[in-house]
Amino acid sequence: DPDPEAAAVLAGRRLLLTAGPTVEDLDPVRYLGNRSSGRMGYAVAAEAQRLGMRVTLVSGPVNLPVPAGVERIAVRSAEQMLAAVTDRVAQSDLFIATAAVADFRPREASLEKIKKRGDGGLTLELVQNPDILAEVAARQDRPFVVGFAAETHEVERYARDKLERKRLDMIAANRVGEEGSGFDADCNALTVLWPEGRHEIARADKAQVARELLAVIAQRFRNRP
Ligand code: CTP
Ligand code: CA
Repeated sequence: DPDPEAAAVLAGRRLLLTAGPTVEDLDPVRYLGNRSSGRMGYAVAAEAQRLGMRVTLVSGPVNLPVPAGVERIAVRSAEQMLAAVTDRVAQSDLFIATAAVADFRPREASLEKIKKRGDGGLTLELVQNPDILAEVAARQDRPFVVGFAAETHEVERYARDKLERKRLDMIAANRVGEEGSGFDADCNALTVLWPEGRHEIARADKAQVARELLAVIAQRFRNRP
């Protein structure tokens, strides 16, 4: 059953969240992608909806059903994800960035399929994508802002650095690249950090982790300035 304390704080509030990978087109048939399954974000969306939140999920391409009662906006690239978020962020009370946004995209997508030329290789020129989370956090009228951090090492140090650098209210860090946790996995464990505290969420299935994360967010959200 939904956690009554979290529901008391969050019911009726509007949640905007990003989920899944972004895919960055190289040509009409190829793209750069990553191994995000979208399951953590979809689990957060489903649990938030159960708490009575009004949930909008801006999602990159994933193989997951839309949780009941959740509005999904489907996008492909980081730039499309930013546009969809920018359109809706002013009407949001809480923003959670679970998406594995591609840091880089090809400088330009070829309109025609890229062909081999002789025996040579291919050098791609990549440019940096906008940071959707940092742009939301930099707004004057910002919602309560929660980021994620996927790290292979020194998880807490890098996550706290992102919390401060992007001026987030909270960040949920997980170790990736290990068998059975994080990216492309059923289970997850999170270290949740905010400027004056931390909370460990033990390894569990993503629905359980999502419930605990929303309970921690609700406590901080209630005490926000
Ligand atoms: N994020 C985002 N837009 C980007 C990159 C990241 O919104 N262009 C968000 C992610 O959704 C996540 C958080 O920022 O909530 C941290 O993502 P992460 O990839 O861990 O951090 P980066 O700032 O991209 O740094 P790096 O990948 O170099 O560690
Ligand atoms: Ca990144």
